Parts: sequence; C-alpha cells; structure tokens
Amino acid sequence: MKKLFRIGLLLLLATPTFSQNPYTAKAKALMAKMTLEEKIGQLNLIIPGGAAVTGSVVSSDVENKIKKGQVGGLFGITSPEKVRKAQDLAVKGSRLGIPMIFGLDVIHGHKTIFPIPLGLSASWDMGLIEQSATIAAKEATADGLNWAFSPMVDIARDARWGRISEGSGEDPYLGGQIAKAMVRGYQGTDLSKNNTLMACVKHFALYGAAEAGREYNTVDMSRMQMYEYYLPPYKAAVDAGAGSIMSSFNVIDGIPATGNKWLLTDLLRKEWGFTGFVVSDYTSLNEMTNHGLGDLQTVSALALKAGLDMDMVGEGLLTTLNKSLKEGKVTLADIDKACLRILEAKYKLGLFDDPYRYIDEARPAKDILTAENRSAARKMAAHSMVLLKNDNQLLPLKKSGTIALVGPLADNRRNMLGTWVVAGDWKQSVSVLEGIKNVAGNSVNIITAKGSNITDDTALFLKRVNALGVEAEIDARSPQQMIDEAVAAANKADVVVAVVGESSNMSGESSSRADISLPASQQALLKALHKTGKPLVVVLINGRPLTLVWENEHATAMLEAWAPGTEAGNAVADVLFGNYNPSGKLSATFPRSVGQIPIYYNHKNTGRPFDGTGFAKFKSNYLDESNDPLYPFGYGLSYTKFDYSPVKLSKTTLQGEEKLTATVTLTNSGKYAGEEVVQLYITDPVASISRSVKDLKGFQKVALQPGESKEVSFVITTEELRFFNSELKKIWEPGTFIIHLGTSSANVKSAEVIWNK
Ligand code: NOJ
Repeated sequence: MKKLFRIGLLLLLATPTFSQNPYTAKAKALMAKMTLEEKIGQLNLIIPGGAAVTGSVVSSDVENKIKKGQVGGLFGITSPEKVRKAQDLAVKGSRLGIPMIFGLDVIHGHKTIFPIPLGLSASWDMGLIEQSATIAAKEATADGLNWAFSPMVDIARDARWGRISEGSGEDPYLGGQIAKAMVRGYQGTDLSKNNTLMACVKHFALYGAAEAGREYNTVDMSRMQMYEYYLPPYKAAVDAGAGSIMSSFNVIDGIPATGNKWLLTDLLRKEWGFTGFVVSDYTSLNEMTNHGLGDLQTVSALALKAGLDMDMVGEGLLTTLNKSLKEGKVTLADIDKACLRILEAKYKLGLFDDPYRYIDEARPAKDILTAENRSAARKMAAHSMVLLKNDNQLLPLKKSGTIALVGPLADNRRNMLGTWVVAGDWKQSVSVLEGIKNVAGNSVNIITAKGSNITDDTALFLKRVNALGVEAEIDARSPQQMIDEAVAAANKADVVVAVVGESSNMSGESSSRADISLPASQQALLKALHKTGKPLVVVLINGRPLTLVWENEHATAMLEAWAPGTEAGNAVADVLFGNYNPSGKLSATFPRSVGQIPIYYNHKNTGRPFDGTGFAKFKSNYLDESNDPLYPFGYGLSYTKFDYSPVKLSKTTLQGEEKLTATVTLTNSGKYAGEEVVQLYITDPVASISRSVKDLKGFQKVALQPGESKEVSFVITTEELRFFNSELKKIWEPGTFIIHLGTSSANVKSAEVIWNK
C-alpha cells in the first residue's frame, strides 16, 4: 500500500505539466466526449481576413473550420456583433458547442489609446499603468473580446529594434513591476467577470535581444544573462497569475522558442510553476522550418512536445498531429495536455457558463472612449513625458505672447497614437495644435507652419513606413518653401515650439532602423529654426530612444512626449504650460550614436574601465565617441528642483537576515509643486562573478510642494543583494555593498555598508 502510494506520488511529481486547478476535472470530463479531431481543433487559433495581419499567411475557410470544431480561438475581430456571429458558429454550429476565445492586440489601450508602452514605463507610476490596463480591459471586453496579447515585457537594450517601443525598456526590476501591474490591470481578481481579460505575456523569450537590433534576428545569450536581466519580467508576469504566454520568433540556444522544451516546459512550467497555456506567435511554428528544424510535421510535433499548446495562424498542429500520432511522433497524452490547458482557460474566463458573457451590444456606447477614459489617458500621457532639457527655465510656457508652432507632427492627429493600435482610430486623437488651443485658449497667439515632411525620403516612406496605411505624405511644397514658412513664423514669434520625431510605424514590429536620428528633413528644419535665435522648444513624438546630440546642444528645451495616444495634444499642452509638471524618467538609455549600441546602465565593468575623463589608450573606450550616453536610464528633469541629502543608513554593519533602512531627505527647492522618482540602486563591488556597476532595486514616486522636504526610505533585505551565480543559484555573498539613492542611474548619493552572513 505504502509502495503504491509512493509510486503514485512519484507519478504525480513526474508529470507537473498536468496542472490541477478547479477547472481540470470539468475540462477532463468534456475531453472524454471529444474526438481526436476536436481536441486538435482546440489548439488552432486563426485570424479571419480583413483583420490586423502581421505575416504573409491569412486563415481561410474560417466558417467551415469553426463548425467542424477545428478552431479554439479567433483573433483580430472586434465588436459584439461580429464576435456574436462567430461565437454562434462554434456554440450552435459545432457538434459539442465549445465556445471560442477571442483575442486581440490590445497593447496600450483598446480604443482610448494610452501612450506607447515605452512611454507608460517612463511614468514609473504603477497605479496609473495598472489603471491603463483596467480601462483597456473594460473597453476591449465591451467589444466582445476576452484575451489581450499583452503585456509585452521583452527587455531591450538596442534602440535600433523597433519593438523597443512596445516594452518597458532595459531594466528587469522596473520591467517586472510593470509586468505585474499590467497583468493585475487586465485580469483583475476574477477572470470570469465580463470586464476583465486574460493577459498574454509576450514574447517568451528574449526577443528584445535580436542581434544588431534587426527584427526577428538570432538571439544568443548566456544563461546567467538570461536569469539576471532578461527573464525576470516574464517571471513577474507569471507570478502575477498571467493566464497565457506567447512564444517568441527567435531562437534560444539554437532552438526556436516555439519549439524549445527547455524554455516552455523545464523553465516555464517546472521551475516557475506556470499553469496557463502557451500560444505561438504569428506563424512562428511554421517558421521553425526556416530556422532549419525540419518540415511542418516535424516542427509541429517538436513544438507540441516542447510545450506549445496553441498555434497562431500557421495550422501546423491542425494539419499534422493526426499523422504524427499514427506514426508515433506524438502521443495522445501530448495532445490531451495542450487541449486541457486551452479548455481550462475557457473555464477560467467563464465561457462554459455563458459563451456570450463578453458579448453585449449595448456596452460599446457606455464603456468605450468615455470622457472618463479619455481623462485617464490624458493624465497618463502627461505623466509619461520626460523633460530632457530646460535651459533658462524656458518651460513652462506663459499663456501669453506669440508661439510659432511648427514641425510635421504639430498639426497632425494621424501619428499621435503610435504603433500597435489595432482598434484605435487616429481621427479620435487630439493634435498638439488642438491641445494648445484647448489649454491656452485665446490668451496666446499661435502661428503654425508644417516646416518639413516627416521625411523627404520617398523610398523609406511610401514603400516601407506606409505599409500599414498612409501615415505621412510628401507635401506638394518644396522642402525649402516649407522651411522658409517655418522660419517666417518663428521670426514673428516669442518662442518656437517644434513638434518633430517619427511617424507611428517608424517604430514597432518590423521597423528596425540602422540610423536612429531624426530624419534629415526635420534636422534641416531645426537647424533653420535655431538660426533665427528664437527660444526653441523641441517636442519629440517618437517610439524609441533617438540620437539627439545636435538637438540637445542647440534646442533651448526638449520634451520627450513619445507617442502619447488619443489625448496626445491635450497632454503635451498640459505639460508645456505647466498644468502638469513633468515627472517622467527614461526607462531606456538614449545613446549619443548608434555605434554605442547596445548601451545600458547596468553593464559590467571591464578589466580596463573607462574613468570618465576622456579617451585613454588601452582603456575600454572609443577613438571617436565617448562612452557616456546622451541621457542615462532613469533621467528626467522637472520644472522644479529636487535636492538630495546624503544617504543615511540605519546601520553600517549587518548580519544575516537583518534589514537595512536607507533614507534620503528630498527637498523641493524650486518654485513649482512636482513629483520625483527616487531611485535605489545597489552595487556589489566584490563577488564570485563580475557584477554590473549597479542595479535598480527600488523606486518611489514622491510629490512635494515648493519648499517641502520629505524623508524617503527604502527597506533593503538580503533579497535585494541576490544574484544568479554560475550555477544559476540565486545567492547573496557577504561583503561590502554600495547603496545609491538618486535622481537617475548616473546621478546618485551613495553610502557603504558591510553585510556579513
Ligand atoms: C505578431 C507579433 O509579434 C505579436 O506581438 C502579435 O501579438 C501577433 N503578431 C498577433 O497580431
């Protein structure tokens, strides 16, 4: 008896990939009634024609497949009417009436669009970020959906990669906090509620480390680098209870993520305890063939066995598993395992209680693009903006005098939303010109001029950037004529506000750039404006860190506004006129030049470190560039001034699991009320492996009135000292640690502590 019990226990432990949750029994009971074809059908996710297509394949014969039980979920369609029609086909038209799930790329809002994720992350405000996901969930569910392909938590250290715009930048700690906030926002506390969505964490994993920043490129990285820097945000999202995960396009250790057993089973399920389901990215299963892993049948069997549960668009699982089963290349247990996970997700979403619970034709009018949602988007956008420069306290602008508002993105609604806005409508967005009129009213005189095209490079624009629809056109006027008009406007004004940057899809998927400066047409405009001698405010609308050396030297003030979303113009104006004092901090380093990439604050020391004083022979530096970035991680100014006292430590010697409190007194010594993100970094100068120069371990956003001071404290435990050693064990080692508190990764106050075991 005892022996039997032990064998049973062993079996249970040996099959941890079979999750046990309240829905398992129900799903298994349903599976007992399903044919093999119906089980395989649940693993199939398709996109009907006409939806947002991100590859060369589109699903065909959709209706028939649904009726035959060959579809587990649909994505790319919105509106309760359309979703109802499709759900009817499954519920009323298929043998067992199993409901489908409905997904979409709800990335930074659904129809009320929030700033691009890189912008959201620059707010360092977890409450607002969570709220943005809650609102997105409310709007998307009102449109019949129950599954969001978000959050995207890929760490990126390379601004050439267009999808840096879709993530939270370069830091694993900040990225992890945001991943959790997003999952909480989408899923709430009850996934079966009709205003919450299942999150899909993507792209698992390491997609942001594509070599040379080129889209879909190879990734090759040590396990230590993965565990310490790239994996934590995915893990944080899993710990927060994300219901699903999307595999990435890239290889990991030479094996595509979609068919990587170490990744999808050993790490994700066995080590992290993930119990949801894994969906491939768009045809990433089929693309394993191009990666050199074999034909469709081979890669489909490989992916299923590796831990993939659902196949997006490619239909490799649908078309080959039957054959593979007969040939012994997969087992029924492999298919059952994946099917069970999909069904469990549907139970969690409450779809078996009511397949129509997310479908209510009355909801869009009540829940989408409401004044309340727009006002949250406006607040979020203002909080995401980063003040990069503000000479002579030019900002905030006075609500008087004459402003020359110029630049190709000034009187432009089309490019305010940024990349990945499947359901968003740019016509609903507020341009900067409209925002300035709304906020400053008639008290300022505004003269406008376009000044330049976003780019004059017709090859880039017409053929590439406009691939998803016309974002920018080449003006009928000549470049010189446009510049002359802008200069004439500037000459009549007290201050020039130039709104420049990228069109929405100059960043995002398949938008890698080898040159990340402003396009030449806009540089020429800024140079001409600078020559007028008028104070020049540069407002940047863009989706990635740019190289802005000339702009930083010559503009009087610069505001990084990202792609701010539906309420773009209102939020830009709120910040320009001081209705909101900017508090954003960069979540990704801005390089001085492309040659410095990858550039990130938490790098390791070399054996011959650069000492910051200029070129030195036989040191780690460049002949033709400094090592320093233009703007470091964590950087961002305010209209007011924050002073940091020296760091006070509760103790300078600690033992074992004692706790340390590090405190700084923060004083607002300027004229404006404002918020500051106080950042905690820790350095471990001597360890058994080479550690990075510092790592972010905490932050607090603090609001202070002019003249006000506050003590800001962080409690540090041995958890913050831990790192992954060469055996991939998360340990801490006794010795000296340097505790830094400051306003950016490059501007901190520091104190040392000895921590013994
Ligand atoms: C491809 C993208 O990589 C992914 O992020 C997206 O969710 C899918 N397409 C579906 O649109």
